[in-house]
Amino acid sequence: MRPDLAGTDGYIRNCWYVAGRSEDFGRTLTALTMLEDEVVIYRDTKGRAVVLEDSCPHRKLPLSRGSIEGDHVVCGYHGLTFDCTGECVIAPTQLDNPPRRAAVRSYPTSDRWGFLWVWMGDQDKADPAQIIDIPNFDNAEWGKTPKGAVSMTCHYLYIIDNLLDPSHVAWVHLTSFAGAGTDNRPLDIEEIDGGVIVSRWILAEPPPPYYENMLPFGPTCDRKQHYECRLPATAINMSVYTPAGEGGSGKPQSPNAFVNISYNFITPIDATSSMYFWFQHRNMHATDTALSDQMFAGAKMAFQEDKDVLEQVQIGMDKRKGGYLNLGLDAGAMRFRNRVARTIAGETNTSPERDA
Ligand code: FES
Ligand SMILES: [Fe+2]
Repeated sequence: MRPDLAGTDGYIRNCWYVAGRSEDFGRTLTALTMLEDEVVIYRDTKGRAVVLEDSCPHRKLPLSRGSIEGDHVVCGYHGLTFDCTGECVIAPTQLDNPPRRAAVRSYPTSDRWGFLWVWMGDQDKADPAQIIDIPNFDNAEWGKTPKGAVSMTCHYLYIIDNLLDPSHVAWVHLTSFAGAGTDNRPLDIEEIDGGVIVSRWILAEPPPPYYENMLPFGPTCDRKQHYECRLPATAINMSVYTPAGEGGSGKPQSPNAFVNISYNFITPIDATSSMYFWFQHRNMHATDTALSDQMFAGAKMAFQEDKDVLEQVQIGMDKRKGGYLNLGLDAGAMRFRNRVARTIAGETNTSPERDA
């Protein structure tokens, strides 16, 4: 076990993970690695996504090297043909008698919120109702950015650390999310069903550069950073801005509040690489596509800043010769890691080796 990622020599399997944006998949064969499983993805003639193990049971040629025929995928070596459930339906030289053992694993899928979700665990436990709810997704008064996708060469829990850490913006995102108070105001931590929230209010300060030209009030405001992560690896980062004096803990949300929610879906590729999908959702300027594009470009640049840091963190942690510290700002992330470790232990009937 890697001591820096207690209990994470594995992945939570009985969950939905994002494979990509729905439009990324069509009538071609796409090879992907998710949770160290190599899969091939395509859409059948009705547009439904099919995800199969990417390995022909004959000589293990990846099925993604083959072709699609109708709803089936055909191996590119000798033509073993599989249906959408992974069952072998045609075998060369034994057309009347395809070998029963030739099946490949199939994974349940669901297109939701513009992304393709894949269930990586026990097939009979797959329930699309467990895919995260996104309130206001269809509310015409809310605006959305385009959907982003980026890969990061680091363990997915380093990304979660970052997404439960409102403080890093003060050093990593100087031209976007940094602002007065982000370096020193205390953090509140709350454990919720299936996740952790780290949050704080910063009162009566100027907004950070990313937001300053989209707020209909100012020059100072109250700002809430709400960093929420849910198992297995979804981050809901909500920014709330109100006119100064209208925000603060325990107050009902001001009707003047500007709310922007960054939805982030992380999918482990393996122990040192991850896929990261996201979009932002705001409660104003719904049809302002120029603003959506501006927010998309700004967030994309910020995530690139995170990527640059986190890939170096992976390298630094991998080659460290001594110990490392946790700070107070890591408390939320450590609780999340404990949740991950306990959930994996529950799925595998083992006990987590230690609490972080
Ligand atoms: S390797 Fe696939 S049919 Fe032979
Ligand atoms: Fe960041």
